[in-house]
Amino acid sequence: MEQLTEKLQGILSKSKSIVFFGGAGVSTESGIPDFRSADGLYNQKYDVPPETMLSHEYFFSHTEEFYRFYRDKMLCLDKKPNAAHKKLAKWEAAGRLTAVVTQNIDGLHQAAGSKTVYELHGSVHRNYCRSCHKSYDAEYILNSDGVPRCSCGGLIKPDVVLYGEQLDDYTVTKALEAISACDTLIVAGTSLTVYPAAGFISYFGGQNLVLINRDPTPFDGRADLVIHGKVGEILGSMV
Ligand code: APR
Ligand code: ZN
Repeated sequence: MEQLTEKLQGILSKSKSIVFFGGAGVSTESGIPDFRSADGLYNQKYDVPPETMLSHEYFFSHTEEFYRFYRDKMLCLDKKPNAAHKKLAKWEAAGRLTAVVTQNIDGLHQAAGSKTVYELHGSVHRNYCRSCHKSYDAEYILNSDGVPRCSCGGLIKPDVVLYGEQLDDYTVTKALEAISACDTLIVAGTSLTVYPAAGFISYFGGQNLVLINRDPTPFDGRADLVIHGKVGEILGSMV
């Protein structure tokens, strides 16, 4: 591990523009479980599979049940940024990192101070009325009962990409621009199994593709450096 982190430090010290592409594994050290690890959300027992409950169809056909699961498992508003979030924000402030591209919806990168964050799957912090588009924060959803309603009576929906929904065009365009322009892409905390997000790596044409993930991923063979470890610990030890 020592040799690998030295190699990573060497890459980072020479990098002119870093982009970070992350998934649920970036937030596990903040206490938010990921999805596909043994202790992940998708391996917990529910009558209805979580991937079904987090779908567009289920949101509209079983709205009350959707919100019961969503409040219980997806709204982790008491969780704080960890060393990975903080180091990325520091590198951005120093002009070394140009963007964070994340599949996460927890808002922890912004909470750590990151400014350019492309949230491919949206955010729990943005919620809109389906009728008048009035916006509501995550606390309103957490503190509401049953199906949260707008003051106009309309149904409120979180601005998160549910299964069966499209990613936001502008966010995708900006994320791909950042990935294709950087010289070092750090991919971390993601099983790289969900498309189109996982396919974004193919847009990287720079010098150093770094993969930091606790478990092996389908892209390990393509990376210039692979470190199987905890991304918070590893980035926390980098300068
Ligand atoms: N450090 C490094 N890697 C970690 C850590 C950690 N502290 N904790 C977990 N991991 C790794 C796991 O080994 C796993 O491979 O992070 C990965 C998380 O994979 P998933 O649970 O599949 O999460 P993710 O890749 O973000 O899922 C993508 O799927 O359900 C959808 O919308 C959801 O955005 C999510 C998408
Ligand atoms: Zn309304």
